[in-house]
Amino acid sequence: MGEKVGVGIIGTGGISGVHIRGLTTQCSDIARIVAVADISEERGRRAAQQAGGADYYQDYHDLLARDDIQFVEILTQPALHREIAVAAAQAGKHICIIKPFTVMLRDADEIIQAARQAGVKLFAGQPTRYDPASRTIHEVVRRGDIGEPTRMYTRSFLYLGWLEKPQGWYYDLRQSGGVTVETLVHHMDLMHWILGPASRAYAEAGSFYTQDKPTPLPDDQIAVLYRFQSGAIGVLEGAGSRALGAPSWATEVTGTEGAVWLEEGGRVTVSRTRLSSGSLETIIPGESDTTGGAGPMLRDYLQCVLEDREPPVTGEDGRYAVEMAWGAIASYRSGQPVSLPFDPAHYPDFD
Ligand SMILES: NC(=O)c1ccc[n+]([C@@H]2O[C@H](COP(=O)([O-])OP(=O)(O)OC[C@H]3O[C@@H](n4cnc5c(N)ncnc54)[C@H](O)[C@@H]3O)[C@@H](O)[C@H]2O)c1
Repeated sequence: MGEKVGVGIIGTGGISGVHIRGLTTQCSDIARIVAVADISEERGRRAAQQAGGADYYQDYHDLLARDDIQFVEILTQPALHREIAVAAAQAGKHICIIKPFTVMLRDADEIIQAARQAGVKLFAGQPTRYDPASRTIHEVVRRGDIGEPTRMYTRSFLYLGWLEKPQGWYYDLRQSGGVTVETLVHHMDLMHWILGPASRAYAEAGSFYTQDKPTPLPDDQIAVLYRFQSGAIGVLEGAGSRALGAPSWATEVTGTEGAVWLEEGGRVTVSRTRLSSGSLETIIPGESDTTGGAGPMLRDYLQCVLEDREPPVTGEDGRYAVEMAWGAIASYRSGQPVSLPFDPAHYPDFD
């Protein structure tokens, strides 16, 4: 391999802009975008230009056939991740799959197996782990500053317009997994990263805002409770219902000796007491990143390729967030608490 990692991007829709910006502004000393692929020639050629004159292919197999590409980013809608990732592994490429890793658990297993067989590195694209505020909260908990974590609360409310995609795929559960898989895996992954594995999920969901769509989403509003193996409790709310000016995102972790939470504007506050008096520390996390964490994430992943290190966020991590999502889906569909992990012989499905 030369000095710079040759990068190929498959899928050049909405999210590709910040990934290309991250690669060209934060990784240009270690990587070069060689080619992009998209079934839409217009979106593909625009991205190729943004990437500084990369080659464009309509068929991603042509991109995978290039010897000067070592690292492939898959940025298509979730249901296509399996097919493209397996082909990329068979072509000997290191792979980064944007969240959600897949919609179906069986597809996630197949990708992990294909990467293992091919001996390529498999990275889960979870940019939230590279958001400075999330990293600060993770570090505060890891250091033991708030004692043992007992409870974590996270929230994501999206504007409805966010669910409109060029091919309308968000409204097809088999393409997107709905709000629970498509969007909330960010938060499930943060919970997994901070609290470890979950043992039970219980969820309530409903269709409140998308009833005028040809296929209303069953989970355009959802609330999930998790029990973690550590004993901690997780609370997660999500919706495609954000109202103008209403808060969107929340992250709070409470522990036996304090709490840490995200403030408006990205500041993080740490309290090291459970008493009603004492002092609070406000941390201004590192420089805010205009790529939503994608730039620093890709830099870290590309360095792993150059230095032949293990991925910091693995395919198994990406799959695990999807498993937590399916715990919530199986629960809101059955009205019952659901034990995790699933037995592969009984993976849940949409029917
Ligand atoms: N914060 C984040 O990390 C974040 C934010 C938004 C989206 N995403 C994720 O990025 C992925 C894409 O979302 P988006 O909003 O960019 O969707 P999008 O619909 O705007 O883009 C998907 C692109 O994939 C292309 N595509 C479809 N089939 C293809 C094929 N066979 N070969 C090549 N290209 C193909 C489409 O033409 C389209 O341009 C999703 O998994 C989504 O969850 C992540």
